[in-house]
Amino acid sequence: MRMYDVIYKKRKGEKLTEEEIAFFISSYVSGDTPDYQASAFLMACFLQDLDEEETYFLTRQMLNSGHKMDLSALEGIKVDKHSTGGVGDKTSLTLAPLIASLGLIMAKMSGRGLGHTGGTIDKLESIPGFVTELREEDFIQQSNDIGLALISQTKNLVPADKLLYALRDVTATVDHPALIASSIMSKKLAAGTDYILLDVKVGSGAFLKNIDEAIHLAKIMVSIGERAGKKTRAIISSMDQPLGYKIGNSIEVEEAIELLQDKGPQDLKELTLVLSSQLLIMAGKCKNMDKAYEVSRKHLESGYGYDKFLELVKAQGGKSLNFVQPLFERKVYAPSSGYIESFDTQAIGESASILGAGRKTKDEAIDLTAGIYLPFKIGDYIKKGDLLAKLYSSRKNVFTDSEAKLLSSIVLNQNKVKSHKLIRALVYEESGQSKVEMWS
Ligand code: URA
Repeated sequence: MRMYDVIYKKRKGEKLTEEEIAFFISSYVSGDTPDYQASAFLMACFLQDLDEEETYFLTRQMLNSGHKMDLSALEGIKVDKHSTGGVGDKTSLTLAPLIASLGLIMAKMSGRGLGHTGGTIDKLESIPGFVTELREEDFIQQSNDIGLALISQTKNLVPADKLLYALRDVTATVDHPALIASSIMSKKLAAGTDYILLDVKVGSGAFLKNIDEAIHLAKIMVSIGERAGKKTRAIISSMDQPLGYKIGNSIEVEEAIELLQDKGPQDLKELTLVLSSQLLIMAGKCKNMDKAYEVSRKHLESGYGYDKFLELVKAQGGKSLNFVQPLFERKVYAPSSGYIESFDTQAIGESASILGAGRKTKDEAIDLTAGIYLPFKIGDYIKKGDLLAKLYSSRKNVFTDSEAKLLSSIVLNQNKVKSHKLIRALVYEESGQSKVEMWS
């Protein structure tokens, strides 16, 4: 087989066989297919699309490119949650301990932030002493002992995705449903869990900006999971504004802790409880949404999730929850009055990145103390001169650019604006058929 012929076939819009896709993955991972042919192949896929079956084949071949985690030694129901990437999204930090406190096991591998989106591993590393790399046997042992472990992806987990993601990042081929779905689902399937819940983000801070695209992506991912024999569901949630009030690393952990002590922002609470409810339903612990939500809410408000979080921190070497404080702070005041009509949430993520909270390239160092406190939501009224936000960083010369970016991301309206809906839809399969429930 020649890579040239595989590229040419896809360029003409023809359907690829699993053998052809397997040839691409194995030859690219071994180094026999060079970057320029892999780039041409990705662009052909981007422009001509992959159908559901090709996307599944691609996922399966990516999955087979590396080591698969074996969680069979864990006694209990193993669940996982994955977000497609957002701004201020610290739900893994709130959901994982909450769900473990409810008797399910979350042995979870997470990623780092890239571009304008944050990552759970960077956030956890802001806890003094917290270790995010564990040996597989320690990961399993801890998950058995406390029902919870949060670690970074092991080096040999889906090596094809590591190579392809880096290439997509520089060839303008990231934001394509089949490529995103195969990238995420190959890693989720390799992580070895029983149930997969996806949080597909939609809106100005997400990879996919409109609801139809997000539903399409969710359907593809759910279908891949189900074909692979894993119960899979997707919640579609809005990224038209940051989640919670805090964006960064250590300040997001602070906010997650606030929520686990039932003092956190309402939107973070809502998303955490909806995701927890879905996992309880999927795992057969509750029959319906009302019951599952009530059980989750009671557990959260009683502090059981917080107790589990403290166990997690202790188990993974965390020394204290006294975070290193930023060296500098700038207050930002509203330049005019009005109701908040919209945010460019990606720009808010970029504003936090400028402060040092994120990285443009994989190897860039980040400032774990950097971040933004923005206690406003769509529909809120703000008066000219009122405190709008606080910016934090331990780097001195980043504030002017970050402030300008933040201010440019907010649109005000003189008329009242309706508040914004966070949970948009639920996507799942029933008897092999895709189902979409829009949430009112
Ligand atoms: N997250 C991933 O892991 N892969 C993508 O392609 C996009 C988001």
